[in-house]
Amino acid sequence: MRIAFLTVTRSCKTVQRLHQSSFSSVLTPLKHQRIALHRLSSSSVSQDEKSYYITTPIFYVNASPHIGHLYSAVIADCLHRYKLLQGFKSKFATGTDEHGLKIQQAAEAAGKDPLVFCTDVSERFKHLFSCCNISHTDFIRTTEQRHREAVEHLWSVLWNNGFIYKGSYEGWYSTPDESFLTASQVGDALDPSGKEIKVSLESGHKVEWMKEENYMFRLSAFRSELLDWLSANPLAVQPERFYQDVLQWLQEDLPDLSVSRQKSRLQWGIPVPGDPEQTIYVWLDALVNYLTVAGYPDEHSQWWNVAHHIIGKDILKFHAIYWPAFLLGAGLPLPQTIHVHSHWTVGGKKMSKSLGNVVDPLERSQMFTTDGMRYFLLRQGVPDSDCDYTDAKVMKLLNAELADSLGGLLNRCTAPALNPAQIYPHFCSQSFPSEQSSGQSRAVAEDYHMLEAVKNLPAVVEQHYDTLHVYKALEAIGACVRQTNGFIQRHKPWKLDRSDCKDQRWLDTIIHVSLECLRVYGTLLQPVVPEISNKLLSRLGVRPGERSWAALMFLPKHQGVNCPFEGRALGSNSGVLFSRLEKNVDKQKPKSSKKAAKEV
Ligand code: MSP
Repeated sequence: MRIAFLTVTRSCKTVQRLHQSSFSSVLTPLKHQRIALHRLSSSSVSQDEKSYYITTPIFYVNASPHIGHLYSAVIADCLHRYKLLQGFKSKFATGTDEHGLKIQQAAEAAGKDPLVFCTDVSERFKHLFSCCNISHTDFIRTTEQRHREAVEHLWSVLWNNGFIYKGSYEGWYSTPDESFLTASQVGDALDPSGKEIKVSLESGHKVEWMKEENYMFRLSAFRSELLDWLSANPLAVQPERFYQDVLQWLQEDLPDLSVSRQKSRLQWGIPVPGDPEQTIYVWLDALVNYLTVAGYPDEHSQWWNVAHHIIGKDILKFHAIYWPAFLLGAGLPLPQTIHVHSHWTVGGKKMSKSLGNVVDPLERSQMFTTDGMRYFLLRQGVPDSDCDYTDAKVMKLLNAELADSLGGLLNRCTAPALNPAQIYPHFCSQSFPSEQSSGQSRAVAEDYHMLEAVKNLPAVVEQHYDTLHVYKALEAIGACVRQTNGFIQRHKPWKLDRSDCKDQRWLDTIIHVSLECLRVYGTLLQPVVPEISNKLLSRLGVRPGERSWAALMFLPKHQGVNCPFEGRALGSNSGVLFSRLEKNVDKQKPKSSKKAAKEV
């Protein structure tokens, strides 16, 4: 790759450009200004610590959504719901990435006008998200005017600050990844017809040689600042293995980045301000979506200072190197966290149209229910490593954990045989004293272990939700559900003699404690399975205002505090919590549901 530095004088739309010769003299003061701004942003986080801004990547519209896309969205949705429950003001953005060569070619191949093509696929993403209870507060399309204004503005600021210059790029380009590659990132391969081709070593996609006059971004100038940022913020990129990847990349070659394409090659995009013969590189365009939603270039700091990105591992370099460098160049604060997740494979293979193994998330959420799919993805998905999807695994997991374990527990506590009055029964402190003792106590050591585990559960779950190890949170909840089932099994309340008032008090206590456990599980599960949690909490008679994190005090009677639920009527019975999935569910046609029936 060869980069020629040219000195060109040209006026930009909103600002005067700096000559290349003046670059070195502006770099030092600008660096100080940027670091000061970054400090300012860090301090303002504490001023507004109750705000949270969470984003998903914006999805390419060249193909329909698959389970990998839904996974990114479900993780972000879970975090957003969790922050709301904790009392944060949370903004949650998702959307579609509609410009670039890849989309231009896909629209051409479909014989459609590009905007019509984009609108069609963008609507499919919106439909999927609405069917899967993705509660985004904004859905951005990069073809919107508000976004164009944000991109033009950021471009102009980078230009004004001397970080964009006109040059020429010669090197490899991968259209499927919309990515420039160095020689060391490219290898040899054969295409299906046996022809020798060059491919990206990372994605396996075909690359082409390109040579073009275009605008370059001075990425190379940011290496040390990026390293400073990472060393000062060891949690900026999570999990740790991805943080290490970024550090490693920063040890390698960091050439300047081409940030525009000639219009003759790429028409479908935002023109460079003041130079309509060039179109802005799709990744610069796309990354700015996060700022657009925050309100940029108008007032944006309330949200931008508390931004957290969720991304898949394949787009880490764009988010952890290019994006922070653009932001530093524009004097803007950097995101608080970049949460990275790994990928879903199907039957051990990467999902691809040619292999015919693409899993349709809409079809699967009709088969397994929306909450079923959400639960599976979050329970089985591990951020650090790839996970394999099969329908059989989904069925096995959901039947065991949602239908049998959690659903079974609710059934036992609400069964008319054990709870004929259909109330949240009274707790008897003599039967189950707060300290393990002899006397009239009927509780045994394992019961106290269970109480301890459930009491600590909110803190455990909180820690796992915060680091987006949702599977660990669900593992911990599942373990407690099993303990509560064990508690009932151990004491066999159905064998107690109701005519004996001591037995009756103990029976009530067993049900009270079990319902208290279920209330905690239902509250903690809300971010993951909102419909099931709502059904569960409504059945327990827990009102909407009693479902927040702050209301999580477990078994208040054990702490000498009045329990507001005691004696309260249970909510109405609206059927089983989660119906067992039948063996042949994967061979069945998707069941029609109210929401899912609408085809796009
Ligand atoms: N448009 C870019 C993102 C721009 S963000 C400023 C893009 N789009 S994408 O549609 O290809 O991917 C969107 C997200 O889906 C990425 O986070 C990607 O990692 C994720 N996934 C794509 N395939 C996946 C799996 N097989 N499994 C899990 N997630 C996957 O990249």
